[in-house]
Amino acid sequence: MKSNGKTKITEEHCNLFRKIVGEQFVFTEETVLYHYAHDETENLFFQPDLVIKPRTATEISAILKICNTEKISITPRGAGTGLSGGALPHLGGIVLSTERMNSILDIDERNLQVTTEPGVITEVLQNAVKEKGLFYPPDPASRGSCFIGGNIAENSGGPKAVKYGVVKDYVLNLEIVLPTGEIIWTGASVLKNATGYNLTQLIVGSEGTLGIVTKIVLRLIPFPKFDLLMLVPFRKLEEAGEAVSNIFREGFVPSAMELIEINALKIVNDFVGNSTIPITDDVQAHLIIEVDGNNMDVLMSEMETISEKLSKYDIGEIYFADNAQQKAELWKLRRRVAEAVKLAGYTIEEDTVVPRAELPALINGVKELGIVYDFNAVCYGHAGDGNLHIRIKKDGVVNSQDSPEMIQCLRALFQLVKKLGGTISGEHGIGLIQKEFMDIVFEKKSLELMREIKKIFDPNNILNPGKIFDK
Ligand code: LAC
Ligand code: ZN
Repeated sequence: MKSNGKTKITEEHCNLFRKIVGEQFVFTEETVLYHYAHDETENLFFQPDLVIKPRTATEISAILKICNTEKISITPRGAGTGLSGGALPHLGGIVLSTERMNSILDIDERNLQVTTEPGVITEVLQNAVKEKGLFYPPDPASRGSCFIGGNIAENSGGPKAVKYGVVKDYVLNLEIVLPTGEIIWTGASVLKNATGYNLTQLIVGSEGTLGIVTKIVLRLIPFPKFDLLMLVPFRKLEEAGEAVSNIFREGFVPSAMELIEINALKIVNDFVGNSTIPITDDVQAHLIIEVDGNNMDVLMSEMETISEKLSKYDIGEIYFADNAQQKAELWKLRRRVAEAVKLAGYTIEEDTVVPRAELPALINGVKELGIVYDFNAVCYGHAGDGNLHIRIKKDGVVNSQDSPEMIQCLRALFQLVKKLGGTISGEHGIGLIQKEFMDIVFEKKSLELMREIKKIFDPNNILNPGKIFDK
């Protein structure tokens, strides 16, 4: 068996793992290892030496104790939909998949909370609580396939974040297994908590580097009764960017405010074979605007006023998604942008975020960099949050890390983001591919503190090593 960059995994190790989880849940076959060698990040491929699929926290604890004693690298993985390479075993070793930990344990209708295992698909969780009239808003584009555990690891967002916040705003308490094998709860399942350091929030977004999340308690809210959705075409991209912050300044908080540049919309339109939503050639970008709430008259009047306010820009005819099917069609277009543009050659994806009003400056900066570094870019994403996904296509470059020129170009992009008061990831995380840019947005001391935290949790650096920072 291959060396994993730390201790070589032997047949004896495999037998120990088989005893813990059962023979059929330890995998060494090439076909299985191949599947766990990639996620959605660029075209990256790192094959693990072993894949283990445990069912319980106790099993994970026993596995981690062996890894810690034997110094074997172990990388936790959810559904593999990540966009920063966080679940990839680039140093070899074990991939620990949470896919069998897929039960929703309790929907507490008295307290509006849900307790779940990490391997539940986010949309399945959302639908289960919706049946009880409850709402878990964070809805990453991949919600139909991603796991809630992965969402915790990356502190995911999605379109609803603009009104409802991101994953961190819903996590109340977590059961985690530490790299040393201890099982702990990070806090309490309450809505307010000023008791000591906030370990729960430290784990959210820690990308599987500090512990493996085995139970999750989320707060829920009542499901809003109605929503209205429209698609607004802008002839000038920059004006679409300006309109975003303007709508908030006018006093509205839409439940989604997404931007899609025309090239991205055309690509995804062909990809999904849409024929119902009108897309014309004379525009540069669209905004998808949704409002939601419990009073339809209020929503109608909000949409009307927002449309009026937008008429000062050079816009085309607004498309109102009138029924559930039209809304679903429009959301399908939006959700599948990443997949469609990647297939069209835009393999490099950035997840920049700036203060909302700086969006036009960021969009212009991207276009200028495209000229300097000779690349094509399409921008789309959660404009209401100032969170712009920038997909880059450059001849001969598939993976950003393979091209020194692309690295230089991304540095320039992130320096611009920093100058505008932003940061390099809004919701996809740092993982493997963004770690070399951390110095742009953090002082040396801040990075030192992060490394020290990692050491306290994981003294032998066995858990998802080499993610967020090298060591
Ligand atoms: C999206 C994912 C890529 O917003 O974050 O489409
Ligand atoms: Zn996104």
